[in-house]
Amino acid sequence: MVDDPEGRVGASHGGQLGRGTRLNTGQQQRRVVLQRNPSEGIRARREIARACDGLGKDTVSTAQLLASELFSNALDHGEGDIVLWVTRLPGELRVDVADGSPTPPRVRTVSLQDVRGRGLLILEALAYRWGVDTVEKGRGKSVWFVLRTAE
Ligand SMILES: Nc1ncnc2c1ncn2[C@@H]1O[C@H](COP(=O)(O)OP(=O)(O)O)[C@@H](O)[C@H]1O
Ligand SMILES: [Mg+2]
Repeated sequence: MVDDPEGRVGASHGGQLGRGTRLNTGQQQRRVVLQRNPSEGIRARREIARACDGLGKDTVSTAQLLASELFSNALDHGEGDIVLWVTRLPGELRVDVADGSPTPPRVRTVSLQDVRGRGLLILEALAYRWGVDTVEKGRGKSVWFVLRTAE
């Protein structure tokens, strides 16, 4: 993990990058700071759609669904700024949702009656890989997932 320009949260694969930055490794990355407001989920999904230009509809919808889960988790369980990173890599799409709480997510064991606690199970089911990166000095973490793309 590295710090973003505000020195709060960042991502291990980026650094101080602007929107739509093309990295010399051939990857392309978008970064957006989301407000702690449920309506910002719309912005997150829009950013993903923009970053997914040329990818299949299923990939885009899955990325939007999983990013929505991570955004709502950052709102419900996290704290501080929420930063979305969308990274295009050869054959892969990676989405990071970072927040300022160092507490990592925990996959819950749910019973039939539970109406909550399935967000990470959905992530586990649909993501090719997912994980959590810690931010330097314990100032937050980034929950991320990777989908395979047919490029
Ligand atoms: N961004 C986060 N920060 C801290 N804790 C989190 C975060 N995301 C998830 N968690 C923890 O992981 C649990 C499981 O998340 P999830 O499967 O999405 O269920 P739910 O959000 O319905 O509780 C949450 O109940 C919470 O304790
Ligand atoms: Mg959740």
